[in-house]
Amino acid sequence: MRIAIPREPEGHALVAATPQTAALLIRLGHEVAIEEGAGVRASFPDDAYLEQGASIVPESEVWNADVVLCVDAPSQERIASMHPGAILVSRLAPMRDPGLAERIAPTGITALAIDAVPRISRAQAMDVLSSQANVAGYRAVIEAASRFGRVFTGQVTAAGKMPPARVYVIGAGVAGLAAIGTANSMGARVHASDVRPEVGEQVESMGASFVPVPSLQEGSGDGYAKEMDADAAALARALYAEEAAKSDIVITTANIPGRRSPILLDEAAVAAMAPGSVIVDMAAANGGNCALTVPGEAITTGNGVTII
Ligand code: NAI
Repeated sequence: MRIAIPREPEGHALVAATPQTAALLIRLGHEVAIEEGAGVRASFPDDAYLEQGASIVPESEVWNADVVLCVDAPSQERIASMHPGAILVSRLAPMRDPGLAERIAPTGITALAIDAVPRISRAQAMDVLSSQANVAGYRAVIEAASRFGRVFTGQVTAAGKMPPARVYVIGAGVAGLAAIGTANSMGARVHASDVRPEVGEQVESMGASFVPVPSLQEGSGDGYAKEMDADAAALARALYAEEAAKSDIVITTANIPGRRSPILLDEAAVAAMAPGSVIVDMAAANGGNCALTVPGEAITTGNGVTII
């Protein structure tokens, strides 16, 4: 089988196969074609793929393969240039774009949404959402730390003492737990909330204090939150605002599959935070958890709060 890996659109740092994973496919007896420069932004030059036995091809030869591996859904034009019977393996965000499956269906292509793999133990090796969320949770803390004017860990110097930073994580799923672990290891005091009470134990095991959300919903069992009713959501927002006002860093990760992410921090909550505080809104691509978030940008509010 001929397996091809296209270059992702500009601005995308990822590539769907590394030289190491290309080598695994070749060892299984497949032919692997990499579009010129596909791995460059991920620091994998073409030569690294050539060394593993893959071929480097121009864009015009990449879309006619038997299997095409992408990071994110390619454009309709690219999908149309695949041949009937071919297989596309990619994140497809089917719940964000339900029309996509309908547009692919008549083309005769089999599309596998790698982001629709259930989050169960048996499927862990294919679970791109969890592996990316884990990395993103870590990165959220690094981004926050680089914008925050103080250090995370408490300092005792000849000139006096500085308390550790207080980090508050809202939403303790995969990304949130990774953020908690990272912030904790950097010496911050970490607190976290989630609408699923069953994650309290996980939060504590990562070294944070769990701040329960009032009027909790029943445990969801499947690892995902359900939408809250209006009263419960208002109560929860009041708690988030109160905790945020006491925190230096707030990281929000709240996500409900197939829905716009809920607003957890409104303008008033941000206004009550101290100058120099940082919010990292990890749900930005899905609408955002903070009312003032600008997706893809870092902004500073009038009262000196940075929102990434
Ligand atoms: P997840 O579904 O594992 O975790 C989300 C958590 O938020 C769940 O524990 C859920 O119970 C909680 N939650 C939902 N509504 C809430 C509310 N109103 N209040 C408090 N908690 C609430 O999701 P995951 O994989 O951890 O991703 C989190 C977010 O990060 C998502 O928005 C995702 O799109 C984003 N993300 C961003 C990446 C990036 O590169 N920027 C990469 C991976 C994830």
